[in-house]
Amino acid sequence: MYVRRLQLHDFRSWEDVDVHLGPGVCVFLGRNGFGKTNLLEALNYIATLSSHRVSTDQPLIRVGRESASLSATVVNDGRELTAEIDIVAGRANRARINTAPCRRPRELLGILQSVLFAPEDLALVRGEPGARRRFIDELAILRTPRIAAEKADYDRVLRQRTALLKTAGAAARRGGDDAAMMLSTLDVWDGQLARFGAEILYARMELVSELRRYVTTSYAALAVGSRVADMRYRDTLTAPVDREPTVAGLERQLLADLAAARPREIDRGLCLVGPHRDDLELMLGSEPAKGFASHGESWSFALALRLASLELLRADGGEPVLLLDDVFAELDADRRAALAAVAEGTEQVLITAAVPEDLPKSLRARRFEVTVEGPVDERTSRLADVVAGPA
Ligand SMILES: Nc1ncnc2c1ncn2[C@@H]1O[C@H](COP(=O)(O)OP(=O)(O)OP(=O)(O)O)[C@@H](O)[C@H]1O
Ligand SMILES: [Mg+2]
Repeated sequence: MYVRRLQLHDFRSWEDVDVHLGPGVCVFLGRNGFGKTNLLEALNYIATLSSHRVSTDQPLIRVGRESASLSATVVNDGRELTAEIDIVAGRANRARINTAPCRRPRELLGILQSVLFAPEDLALVRGEPGARRRFIDELAILRTPRIAAEKADYDRVLRQRTALLKTAGAAARRGGDDAAMMLSTLDVWDGQLARFGAEILYARMELVSELRRYVTTSYAALAVGSRVADMRYRDTLTAPVDREPTVAGLERQLLADLAAARPREIDRGLCLVGPHRDDLELMLGSEPAKGFASHGESWSFALALRLASLELLRADGGEPVLLLDDVFAELDADRRAALAAVAEGTEQVLITAAVPEDLPKSLRARRFEVTVEGPVDERTSRLADVVAGPA
């Protein structure tokens, strides 16, 4: 697939932009802070309905404005769909497909598939478990958009159950009738947490078991002669998981763990059981990558996770758009060449770089220049097409 047209209005530094793109490699060049990453962030938002840089939508709206609009026309196997979303401050976002309003923004999922590799990805290897959980959940949703609804249900139940645990704890300490009532309400929430949690757990375990081999091969291609890269899903269930887990089996285990953990949960006012506590363990040889891998190895691992995602989506029959944000400058000559080879074999690749010297010399690409215009506090990014030729 490829993005044929991208239009943004009041998205971050872009007041208005309307750019026509085609298959092949396209490079956005410009000085630091001019708005290059913002363009890739916008495309990735349309694909995942979240930003890779911020966890809330507010920073995406141009300062001083009430809403941002994003629109991408995507060509997939000759069929064209336009996905549009308005991000509105303090209200629900609104989405449209081919100008027809959607009931929920989630309906856009699946129109654009993208794989973004960005400097922030170092956190996948070195950062907290939350970054790795988000990585697997986003990939699972790209493959199977229905999982987004299950994830939203799980997050809602988790919030409400946590709030109840806090008040139940306070009530239990006071003593009194309402404590008993809260405990029976808690039973209902336990059931829901186990139900949605089992779906999330199952989807993650299945994804990791399929993604593993692509991680190993992608890493081996990037870091020739290095130790073997591997990964495993680290659940927090108290009993070992079956070799072939089922949703029903996971749900039973979650319920049992919830029952056993209840006194501790009430004591601490925290939900201690469920996939929100899990992690994805990344291994290099026999050591965990986190804490042991060198800077270069960590970068290669992060890139391998993204390239493996691309491979997996391809194995499903998709052809995602590859977004490379400022990453060539960080890679040595061999890794640059390996990434350039992947880029050349992909239907559409959008790349950002501060200077053309950061890009592999062999890369043939259409070039855009990103500049800024206007007074300092009203600055907007601007795009100019540069004569086609080698990047
Ligand atoms: N909500 C917003 N409203 C207006 N401007 C914003 C908003 N959010 C970010 N910006 C501006 O966008 C610019 C950063 O854009 P971006 O991250 O795309 O830069 P870049 O070209 O990728 O830079 P670098 O080469 O350093 O990575 C900053 O100048 C920032 O002030
Ligand atoms: Mg940038």
